[in-house]
Amino acid sequence: MLKRIPWAKPHFYGNEAKYVTNAIESTWISGGAYLDELELKFRDICDKKHALAVSNGTTAIHLAYLALGIKPGDEIIVPGFCFLAAANIAIHVGATPVFSEVDKNTWCMDPVDLERRITNRTKAIVPVHTYGNVCDMDLIMDIARKRKIAVIEDCAESLFSKFKDRQSGSFGVINTFSFQATKTITTGEGGMVVTDDDEFAERMLLYRSHGMNRKKVIYWHELPGHNFRLTNMQAALGIAQLENALDIIKTRKQVYDKYVSHFSNVSCVSIQKINSNVDPLIWAFALRLNEEAFPQGRDMVRKQMDELGIETRPGFYASSLLNIYTNHKLPVSESISENVISLPSFPTLSDEEIEYISNGLLKLRK
Ligand SMILES: Cc1ncc(COP(=O)(O)O)c(C=O)c1O
Repeated sequence: MLKRIPWAKPHFYGNEAKYVTNAIESTWISGGAYLDELELKFRDICDKKHALAVSNGTTAIHLAYLALGIKPGDEIIVPGFCFLAAANIAIHVGATPVFSEVDKNTWCMDPVDLERRITNRTKAIVPVHTYGNVCDMDLIMDIARKRKIAVIEDCAESLFSKFKDRQSGSFGVINTFSFQATKTITTGEGGMVVTDDDEFAERMLLYRSHGMNRKKVIYWHELPGHNFRLTNMQAALGIAQLENALDIIKTRKQVYDKYVSHFSNVSCVSIQKINSNVDPLIWAFALRLNEEAFPQGRDMVRKQMDELGIETRPGFYASSLLNIYTNHKLPVSESISENVISLPSFPTLSDEEIEYISNGLLKLRK
């Protein structure tokens, strides 16, 4: 029977079960020492004063908006091609997501189009580092600084990716991560927010836990918060994963390099362009199919790959293709959205599997 290759597969490096068991045996299953350690480690990784673990990458963005005091009538600029969590949460705080185009080669926020979308209601810009590539943080930070607009980096897909030798997640005023099962490190579900700003950190601490500050008065709600907490059991998993960060980085880079060697000299596909300022840790290897080489279309290619036992994912739907948002046309985002396919990219893929996947795709061209 044909062996199936999944699109993603979490890998456990050895201490995950032990640390989760430790957390259970300690009886510290909500808060606890693993949570504190995970937050400390993220402070170091991002070189930020504060890191708060949260229940997922979506609540991380929600906390960032709450800390910034984003309110109805405000606008938040988000790329039109990306996983659209930042847009969805904008709606939940009563704000309006405004979509900017992405660059046709890097598939990341296009700073020129971003600048055009700014109005006097713009309160935040959310560059999303799609697939592990990093947006041009020099240009984006310059634009934001000139207009005094907050930048929140969505680093759900870019843990350990760098821009000019700085970690993604170290540029914005508040930055967010996800530890969902397919992500570079996982806690099952989970996330993190990081910031240097003491006031924002304090507000996020309160919003994370019903607005209560247990150090002051128990059950006293200083503001109407949520429960966005991560558990100590999940953090235990995260610590075991982070212990293997170097191995994760090495093996993910090897997978990426092998794919690049298969696809860099063929004209039927374009690999997501990585600018020279970026040292990426690619979360998902994605290609744009040339429509002439693949006249059957991306969705049929995915079906044909599935018949070969290879699970793939389509590009994200451009915001302008989704009727839940008020939108304008985004031709670049739409064209990327319709032609991108991402291939299995998890770090334990073997050379043979990468070859099988790559040859499988190349054989489908006309
Ligand atoms: C770019 C981006 N932002 C936010 C999220 C949301 O993260 P989570 O699934 O942990 O809520 C994801 C993940 O799926 C993502 O890829």
